[in-house]
Amino acid sequence: MPTILNSKLNYYASNPNARRLLAGVGIVFVLYLIFGTETSRSLLDVGSSSTRIAPKIQHNYADGLDTPLNVSQWGERAIKVRQLTQWADLAVKNPAAERKAFQNALQTEFPFLAGTDSLIYTPWSASAKQFSSQVGMVICTGSNNFHLAAHLIASLRRVHKSKLPIEIAYSGDNDLKPEHRTFLQNLESGISFIDLLDRFPYAHDELLNGGWAMKPFALLASSYTKAMLVDADAIFLTSPDSIFDINPGLHRTGTLFFHDRAALGGGDERRFWVKDQIAAAQIEPSHYLSTESLFYSGKTWYEADSGVTAMDKSRPDVLMGLIFATWMNTKTVRDEVSYKVFYGDKETFWVAMELSAVDYFFQPWYAGTMGTITKEDGQPEQMDLKSTKVEICGTHMLHLDHLGQTPFWINGGIYEHKEDPSTGYSTMTHYWVGETSDIRLTQPQWYWVNGNTGCLRETGVRVIPDHIRKNIEKIESEATRVDGLIRNM
Ligand SMILES: *[C@@H]1O[C@H](CO)[C@@H](O)[C@H](O)[C@H]1NC(C)=O
Repeated sequence: MPTILNSKLNYYASNPNARRLLAGVGIVFVLYLIFGTETSRSLLDVGSSSTRIAPKIQHNYADGLDTPLNVSQWGERAIKVRQLTQWADLAVKNPAAERKAFQNALQTEFPFLAGTDSLIYTPWSASAKQFSSQVGMVICTGSNNFHLAAHLIASLRRVHKSKLPIEIAYSGDNDLKPEHRTFLQNLESGISFIDLLDRFPYAHDELLNGGWAMKPFALLASSYTKAMLVDADAIFLTSPDSIFDINPGLHRTGTLFFHDRAALGGGDERRFWVKDQIAAAQIEPSHYLSTESLFYSGKTWYEADSGVTAMDKSRPDVLMGLIFATWMNTKTVRDEVSYKVFYGDKETFWVAMELSAVDYFFQPWYAGTMGTITKEDGQPEQMDLKSTKVEICGTHMLHLDHLGQTPFWINGGIYEHKEDPSTGYSTMTHYWVGETSDIRLTQPQWYWVNGNTGCLRETGVRVIPDHIRKNIEKIESEATRVDGLIRNM
């Protein structure tokens, strides 16, 4: 018992979240006394006592810490998630220990994991070694947008020479038809498929016609421990292959999130919802949330654009956060809470990390735009864009690379309007991404033209660098080639 406690305390001392966790030390410690130590013992004593103790732990979890939690009680549930994470850590560190009770508790809390034992990667399971520690990409796509996934894949392989293995996740033949899978399979090398209905045998209600909700399931199902979840309509402007090596925040935390546009959309209810859940989780808001987030200070209505998300699932705390985010996208929870409070899956990834007290990383710039500028009457041909306000309009949200220097990826595909190929390829000559510190003081004034063209009048508009411009031209010709192949299918 004392050694276990010591190792727990060392864990706290070496953990950057120690302070936040200690803030909630009251309840966590009480929970720990109630069954944390029992948990540890059941994992560490491989002898007969484990069979005696295990059912009790399972019982505690099944009871939902004595009171059943409803779908709105994310904070209270996060306390259980943190408890499960400590248990998971012990399971990873003690490979010989009995882990059935832990797995049962996990599946009681998250029933969509039932039957996934050897099918999806978890660092605590006996099958962990069967999965590759390589970096892999997973793309969710259905027959309605497989052509966008095809553009993405062709541009990755042929423009950026990307060697990342690519998995395509879908929910059954009605979602992504067999002929469309065959097409994608033959398009490039290194493509494989994940039918989420096979990987999550007890989650069909969650997955069928799940739309956005499939995304966290796809990230969980990725065979690669370091996985990047990418929307079918994302387009990379430079290679994403080395992201796990070169992005310092991803390297440090095992997570990478991108921001949405900073724009106001509603009242304070979203951030107050998050605030209440943090209080219920018995922690303090993270340093990030309280000092950097524009969302939490009421300066934007959206925090995250989940078009590209990366996680290192070999870290038990990160994977447990992902499992929590997946729960937020299960049918009842999303219908009754998540998609009412927020918009789709977008915010669930970071909210899950925040409530679980996992250190997570947001690229520090809010999304900008890529498109064309319109000069006003009287504005000279040569202008100092740094100090002169010009109008920039575009249909693509833009994200920068890890240095904040170079356009990295856009959403919305390569067409001007992703739903309508007849609009042709987007004309892109300029881009704008604001500094977060400036946005904190002055909101960018987005206005909308023809529905989905976002415009701004801003200083600091830049010309797209030549090498990116060349990549865009190559991506357009790949898309033209792919569209030809699709027409002849
Ligand atoms: C969930 O439980 C909390 C606390 O008892 C309560 O305030 C809330 O209204 C409940 N929500 C739902 C959807 O039942």
